Amino acid sequence: MTPKILVTGSAGQIGAELVPALRARYGRDQIVAAIHKAAGSPLLREGPVETLNVSDSSAVSRVVRQYGIDTVYHLAAVLSATGEKSPDLAWEVNMQGLKNVLDVARQAKLRRVFWPSSIAVFGPDAPRKNAPQNAPLNPTTMYGVSKVAGELLCNYYFLKYGMDVRCIRYPGLISSEALPGGGTTDYAVEIFYSAIQKGSYSCFLEKNSTLPMMYMPDAVEATLKLMEAEPSKVKRHSGYNLAAISFSPEEVAAEIRKQMPAFKVTYSPDQRQKIADSWPMSIDDSEARRDWGWAHRFDLSKMTGDMLARLGPRLASAQKGV
Ligand code: SER
Repeated sequence: MTPKILVTGSAGQIGAELVPALRARYGRDQIVAAIHKAAGSPLLREGPVETLNVSDSSAVSRVVRQYGIDTVYHLAAVLSATGEKSPDLAWEVNMQGLKNVLDVARQAKLRRVFWPSSIAVFGPDAPRKNAPQNAPLNPTTMYGVSKVAGELLCNYYFLKYGMDVRCIRYPGLISSEALPGGGTTDYAVEIFYSAIQKGSYSCFLEKNSTLPMMYMPDAVEATLKLMEAEPSKVKRHSGYNLAAISFSPEEVAAEIRKQMPAFKVTYSPDQRQKIADSWPMSIDDSEARRDWGWAHRFDLSKMTGDMLARLGPRLASAQKGV
């Protein structure tokens, strides 16, 4: 059966690549891209688009009924750095938004819900290397608190109502198509833009600050794979650990330098360093690999090559005003 899908937060970093991938797979008109304040790319507007505030539960319900939605990818969220500036907003959007979507899903008897969790569920007491699936979850950011509480809520809706909620703990995501907004791992995207546009970058994390990361095509692939997995293969309805690569600013800079030898990076850590220090450097995702066959394709070198190949010509023509 072809799903009829609503994607909230479609103009965000994940949505900008997930919506086109879902449309390519299931058909353009099967996917309703919901956006809030951000305009959304012209690509997003090639299919149905709705303006939606996930804090407004009756609006979510209306869109679900209007389009006959049976599956929701609920991506709308406030990320870690913005969440530390506005903890109340992070709680409201991340928690009430999720609760609204889950309640609408229950009332409308939706088939499946996807919700993104994050490496931010871990705190300083989780092992810093290869943080296991069942590591202690004691985050010290509001974003992390909302992701832990959200995972518990998803699992509760599965246990209590039999809802098929599926959830991934994404690492930092790097995309050539959309800029991230308000996260701690955002440097790993900015660095490519700055390398191409200025030949230099001032990094807000320390040079040896290693974090788990993933190239967006891998993240999209993982998301589709989990959502298409047979229910019997999905053994957990809180967040699956998901990993691909781990690197530091210094390491990605060295990789960029292989193509741009003159690229210079300076380091001036800001308040985001504290957040990065509270997260693991790498994650053990063997459960995802075992349960539903997850395997990543992009290592640091392949990702860097692809980012530069895609962004280089695009930024050059934008500069010329083409
Ligand atoms: N990329 C996110 C952030 O930095 C982590 O989930 O907030």
